[in-house]
Amino acid sequence: MTQSTLHVAVIMDGNGRWATRLGLPRLAGHKAGAETLRGIVEAAPDMGVGTLTAYAFSSDNWKRPREEVDGLMTLLAAYLDSETPHLLAQGVRLTVIGRRDRLPEVLLSAIRNSESGTLHGSRLHLRLAIDYSAREAIARASRSPEYFEELLSSQPVDLMIRTGGEQRLSDFLLWESAYAELVFTRRMWPEYRPADLRQAIREFHRRDRRFGAIPALMPPPVLHERWLR
Ligand code: FPP
Repeated sequence: MTQSTLHVAVIMDGNGRWATRLGLPRLAGHKAGAETLRGIVEAAPDMGVGTLTAYAFSSDNWKRPREEVDGLMTLLAAYLDSETPHLLAQGVRLTVIGRRDRLPEVLLSAIRNSESGTLHGSRLHLRLAIDYSAREAIARASRSPEYFEELLSSQPVDLMIRTGGEQRLSDFLLWESAYAELVFTRRMWPEYRPADLRQAIREFHRRDRRFGAIPALMPPPVLHERWLR
């Protein structure tokens, strides 16, 4: 992915509260959240987004009730199965980040099919974080030259968006977000719309990104290459 496109990361928070407020089961919120992601993926490339990383299931989410975890696993597999043809048609490449050794086979198989089926998509790189923990990814990189290289060469996050009103990173892309611009919104993820993403990107462009330098002396903004030298 070229550096002229943005890497946007989204923490899709608020599904459960949204559903509870409507008197619905929490899983209905996650289903609505999956619909929201569909709309965001469609709209993102036209806003200059080249990579979109979405936090679908954190390694800490295993602590949730069994029913919700199972529901999320089923929903993720169904999302991948039903979305893959659309992703392919839209030129979206899908990959999954995170641990794979604890995922159910039905989801693993959906991931493999979606990753191989969309391999050549070049309009948008959609990365779904499933059983993901940034601290775990960094610890793993410290033990393996391959993962270390992968982490150092990963595209930095330009814009990190969190819905649902909380203002924290919750172990998401900690290394990659070293200079990310943070945008928090109280809007619950099921209610997040492409217009909200557009607003966040406008806000991003208004920010003065100095990367610790003085504007006139600024190096080109290809931060991660510094770590590869
Ligand atoms: C946070 O909301 C969201 C999650 C733990 C899962 C995110 C999942 C989705 C958006 C749907 C599934 C995604 C795909 C790609 C099919 P929460 O449950 O923490 O909400 P709360 O803070 O209101 O309880």
